[in-house]
Amino acid sequence: MDRSVIFPEQVTPARDLSVDQCHHVRGNGASVISRITINDTWLDELADGLADHGWLATDISGRLGARLLDELAAEAGLLDRTDSMKKAGIGRGRDLIRDSSVRRDRIAWLQGNSTPQGALFDFFEAVRAGLNQRLFLGLRRFEAHYATYHSGDFYRKHLDSFRGRALRVVSLVLYLNEGWRPEDGGELQVFSREDEVCGLVMPEKGRMVLFLSEEIPHEVLPANRTRYSIACWFRQDEVPLPL
Ligand code: OGA
Ligand code: MN
Repeated sequence: MDRSVIFPEQVTPARDLSVDQCHHVRGNGASVISRITINDTWLDELADGLADHGWLATDISGRLGARLLDELAAEAGLLDRTDSMKKAGIGRGRDLIRDSSVRRDRIAWLQGNSTPQGALFDFFEAVRAGLNQRLFLGLRRFEAHYATYHSGDFYRKHLDSFRGRALRVVSLVLYLNEGWRPEDGGELQVFSREDEVCGLVMPEKGRMVLFLSEEIPHEVLPANRTRYSIACWFRQDEVPLPL
């Protein structure tokens, strides 16, 4: 068991991998970078975790494959080093506020137009469809961005969506950092629906957190080294607001 996740216990990977719902191969021969494996048992576990606790953390390296994770981490690193990530804000469009006392990360939206992003989008799409089948959430689309937290950056306690607006319904965060140590900080602190600290997740490569956007407050503690992640939101609306 992974001790960095206090509660609920990590979802154990489904053992029966024979039923591939999403068998994804891009390119041919040497250029194949990913074969993503999702099955009904695993989607059941995700749905149960959301229904019972409002959140869960699990390792998906085996499902995405080391190569895809490496490619995504390389993209994040390149966007960061070329200064292509923008200071993140709170809210959108005309309501956008950039308040560095609340959040200090930098972001770049994914378009799905590189090979690793395309593979990841197929994975997100399978999760979207699987959650709809099980929880009737009416998730119609997803949006995703890379995020970089440099040393000293944080994101104070917040919800990803305001109750009743039903825009962002389910949040997914995938981490891309190899060999994260406790002294590196930057953990995701998760609060229960009753607003009590119930989990601390280290942003280690391949780890995924899934939670209900309107119900689970969370906070990124100050990082002591560069921290890369991808955040994805499954939404009930169809038309994107201006970014
Ligand atoms: C967010 C967020 C968490 C993380 O971008 O809204 O809460 O661990 N990210 O990166
Ligand atoms: Mn958040």
